[in-house]
Amino acid sequence: MTERKRVVSGMRTTGKLHLGHYHGVLTNWIKLQHDYDCYFFAADWHALTSEYQDPAIVKESTRDIFIDWLSVGIDPEKATLFIQSEIKEHAELHLLLSMITPLPWLLRNPTYKDSQAEGQGGDNETYGFLGYPVLQAADIIIYKANLVPIGVDQLPHVELTREITRRFNHLYGDTFPVPEPILTELSKVSGLDGRKMSKSYNNAILLSDDEATLKKKVGSMVTDVQRARRNDPGDPEKCNLFPLHPLYSKAEEVDEICAACPRAEIGCVDCKKILLKNLVAGLAPVHEKQHYYRDNHKLLDEIIAAGNDRARSITRKTMLEVRKAVKLS
Ligand code: TRP
Ligand code: SF4
Repeated sequence: MTERKRVVSGMRTTGKLHLGHYHGVLTNWIKLQHDYDCYFFAADWHALTSEYQDPAIVKESTRDIFIDWLSVGIDPEKATLFIQSEIKEHAELHLLLSMITPLPWLLRNPTYKDSQAEGQGGDNETYGFLGYPVLQAADIIIYKANLVPIGVDQLPHVELTREITRRFNHLYGDTFPVPEPILTELSKVSGLDGRKMSKSYNNAILLSDDEATLKKKVGSMVTDVQRARRNDPGDPEKCNLFPLHPLYSKAEEVDEICAACPRAEIGCVDCKKILLKNLVAGLAPVHEKQHYYRDNHKLLDEIIAAGNDRARSITRKTMLEVRKAVKLS
């Protein structure tokens, strides 16, 4: 049997997860865990690059994110789940990579350039923010990853990882495979206001929202903006809410809405009622598991500790090789 390819990906711990995460990143992770040797981690150090003034949110989100992962079906028996800051070797490798990473590579990174251009400078004017992709490179190659599932926004970071990896191998001898990105299909679910679902836009439906909150949020969702009156025909293709239906409603209901909406035979209020009912039912098993893990601190701690141990056993081995390669052993 050939060894399974290794997959590494991380998520910044800057708040609770929402449906955009679920129907984008997480469904992808759930699939990958069956076929690959997966390492998924809570990137709490990376979260600090933006949240350093309020680190409490990082700690809180780390636990919440684990609970959400487990509740949607990420399986700790299949994938190794861990916390970045618990694996100190990431920091050591980050430091070594920082020695060989030319500054211009970081200065031309789009994330950095955009933040400079937006003049949001201030908070982002740190050494850590500039070096963010170097830490990300360490996260990835310390596991000798082959594949990195990411959204398009992260592509320049993985490209940089590849360049840094080649440079390391060139300087110190072949040590790391050069990892490849796998692009995660963009989630079709957008936020309540029609923009990308995001914590910072305050337009997200959280995986942990209760029924009353879901009701309020679905009620406030923008639909087809062309459809001003109840008698105007609508177009599901142009409706911000519609993409949730195929994810949560029965096929017959979806077909009915697709037929009735353009003929103004269903109003958005009723359409939202159908969605709400199905969303509540669809998230019920997730909420049940969230409660279970929230009430079982010890179990959650054990799962995290086991994942951390598994991750560490690899990073320790890698760092022995790395120290030797850079003549520091
Ligand atoms: N930068 C990634 C994001 O914001 C998170 C991340 C950190 C990551 N380290 C990683 C993703 C390593 C993939 C691999 O989404
Ligand atoms: Fe969207 Fe439904 Fe209203 Fe049609 S009826 S515009 S699909 S919310």
